[in-house]
Amino acid sequence: MKTWRVVAGSRIEGLALGEETPARTGSTQLRVRVHAATLNYRDLLIVNGPYPVSTQAPLVPGSDGAGEVVEVGSAVTRFKSGDRVATCFFPNWVDGRMSRPGITGALGGGDGGTFAEEIVLDERALVRSPAHLDFAQAASLTCAGTTAWHALFEAGRLRPGNTVLLLGTGGVSIWALQLAKAAGARVIITSSSNEKLARARALGADAGINYAQVPEWGAEVRRLTGGEGVDLVLEVGGEKTLAQSLASVRMQGAVMVIGGVSGLGGTMVPRQLVGVATRMQGVYVGSRQMHEDLARFVEVAQIKPVVDRVFAGTEAPDAFRYLAAGKHFGKVALSFA
Ligand SMILES: NC(=O)c1ccc[n+]([C@@H]2O[C@H](COP(=O)([O-])OP(=O)(O)OC[C@H]3O[C@@H](n4cnc5c(N)ncnc54)[C@H](OP(=O)(O)O)[C@@H]3O)[C@@H](O)[C@H]2O)c1
Repeated sequence: MKTWRVVAGSRIEGLALGEETPARTGSTQLRVRVHAATLNYRDLLIVNGPYPVSTQAPLVPGSDGAGEVVEVGSAVTRFKSGDRVATCFFPNWVDGRMSRPGITGALGGGDGGTFAEEIVLDERALVRSPAHLDFAQAASLTCAGTTAWHALFEAGRLRPGNTVLLLGTGGVSIWALQLAKAAGARVIITSSSNEKLARARALGADAGINYAQVPEWGAEVRRLTGGEGVDLVLEVGGEKTLAQSLASVRMQGAVMVIGGVSGLGGTMVPRQLVGVATRMQGVYVGSRQMHEDLARFVEVAQIKPVVDRVFAGTEAPDAFRYLAAGKHFGKVALSFA
């Protein structure tokens, strides 16, 4: 079977496609024929560095994979051959609170990732895919979808009628746009591109702000919310956006700190939280239970996550270059069909 490997930090040129013998299937394991994988900013950081991984040996990148069960171990109870499944980001975080043991072994960060024609995983590390999704759409639930779900509805406690601010039009933000609109929220979204803002409006966004043209976009968010600010911000920008996000949020609102496409450094001024009683919380993908709750909602609401472009399974370097260039809107996928 064809498998991509890379030494973390060796850059996109370090990606190598090889032919490997599939692993044997243990009694509680499944063999999955991967039909599609989706890329995340985190995978780009693993390939380009720096991102903490648990091995210096060539690893199989990718956390998101969806496909069909082709072999089941003798003690498997949750799935059968032919089932359509997707990988869990954290195979060891099934439910409940996040714990250090629970977040070990994240796929593609040292333990076998999804950029391969077949993967062998314990049955607890997989989730049934919504029936109306193709494999690329189904793969995108694993990281971006589950992160958006966790940040909006679990940690963020979003309620119908609330207003949420989303930053940029990448995988997490466009997932959050689709979920928030389906849940009856009002959405304000930022982008560096007016064309992408128009696409976001077509997906239901209520207002858009070009952050390249309006550097003080926090004031514009306040203006759009009658001076109050939004109930919730999904912060994926980091270093260069956090101050504006804090300027955008209402009193006793919340900022979910998810990522840092503009860097993860910077300083925090306590005053920015105290006077307005803002709640800030980090979010790290989510549990299998959250992924399953997301899958149920996606099926009921018939949400089709936006996959901007699908590359052939042999074109992983091109897919990474496309992601790195920031041309995408929503998700970028590889197809191993
Ligand atoms: N904590 C977690 O569990 C978790 C999970 C998933 C992702 N993340 C993190 O969240 C971030 C986003 O991930 P992703 O996979 O959604 O990335 P992505 O698909 O690569 O999207 C990146 C987008 O960010 C926007 N952007 C870039 N610079 C910006 C800025 N200064 N202000 C506002 N937006 C900006 C761009 O949108 P426009 O082109 O529209 O300008 C770009 O397309 C990354 O830092 C990632 O590591 C964290």
